[in-house]
Amino acid sequence: MSGRGPGPRPPKDGGYGKGGWPIVAGQKVAGSKVSGPAGSDRADGGGGLDFGPAPVPPGGTILEARGLVKTFQAGRESLTILSGLDLKLVKGRSLAVLGSSGSGKSTLLYLLGGLDRPTAGSVLSRGRDVFARPEPELARWRAREVGFVFQFHHLLSDFSAQENVAMPAMLSGSPRREALDRAAPLLERVGLKDRLGHRPGAMSGGEQQRVALARALVMDPEVLLADEPTGNLDARNAGLVNELICQLVAERGLSAVVVTHNVKLARLMDDAAELGDGRLGAWRGTEAG
Ligand SMILES: Nc1ncnc2c1ncn2[C@@H]1O[C@H](COP(=O)(O)OP(=O)(O)O)[C@@H](O)[C@H]1O
Ligand SMILES: [Mg+2]
Repeated sequence: MSGRGPGPRPPKDGGYGKGGWPIVAGQKVAGSKVSGPAGSDRADGGGGLDFGPAPVPPGGTILEARGLVKTFQAGRESLTILSGLDLKLVKGRSLAVLGSSGSGKSTLLYLLGGLDRPTAGSVLSRGRDVFARPEPELARWRAREVGFVFQFHHLLSDFSAQENVAMPAMLSGSPRREALDRAAPLLERVGLKDRLGHRPGAMSGGEQQRVALARALVMDPEVLLADEPTGNLDARNAGLVNELICQLVAERGLSAVVVTHNVKLARLMDDAAELGDGRLGAWRGTEAG
């Protein structure tokens, strides 16, 4: 299984909380309506964020990678993992990315979500270069516009399911009560109404991953990035989580990039592409890796 390995590491602090959640430690979002209810502030294309251009119309490109290059330095060797990769994510569509282990899927996802910087090339969010922004703005974009789900849920073990889901909102400045109130219906939506007070350790793998999915959505992002979200689950739970992802993408009008080895999930997505030799090509319709 891929996913863990020596894969790309997010910046030490700039983007990841203690448990691996891509948030911005201590980030206060001055002047933005982060504490507003989900979906209430989309009309301005980003909730008053200083970089939010006009909303993307249906059929428009919400996230784009242009000529992405990522080279890792391993001792004296330099390893080029992505070599001029192009990708366009159309608003409201879902894209499955397949590819053998080590082909660079996680690397790509981290770049798309602004968790790591490319060696060359750019990532455009609604037409604007993500990495051209100053770090605090990039961090706000990441926290507000992108929801992440990883193979390993990265829930905080000392907090309840509801607190875990509420965490990104609280860290973005929402009052605790308000953040918890946003978390509850999301947990209900993923079938965990009776587990609000459970800590991760008292939940099954499938339940934990559903909490992680709810957490990815608490900021009402436009883009969902999922890295082998069912790679660690048994077939039945993987099926449940896959189904949920597809339903949530549809009902929330999300644009999604889902890295998966799961052929069933890939077929449920609108589009599928295969990563190989550092670029995306057509998926051949078989399991990769
Ligand atoms: N920080 C890093 N330093 C050196 N090599 C890395 C680093 N991150 C990833 N790699 C290498 O990049 C390749 C792609 O990794 P990854 O994106 O995790 O692949 P995948 O998710 O497709 O399995 C692997 O060969 C991995 O060893
Ligand atoms: Mg991976």
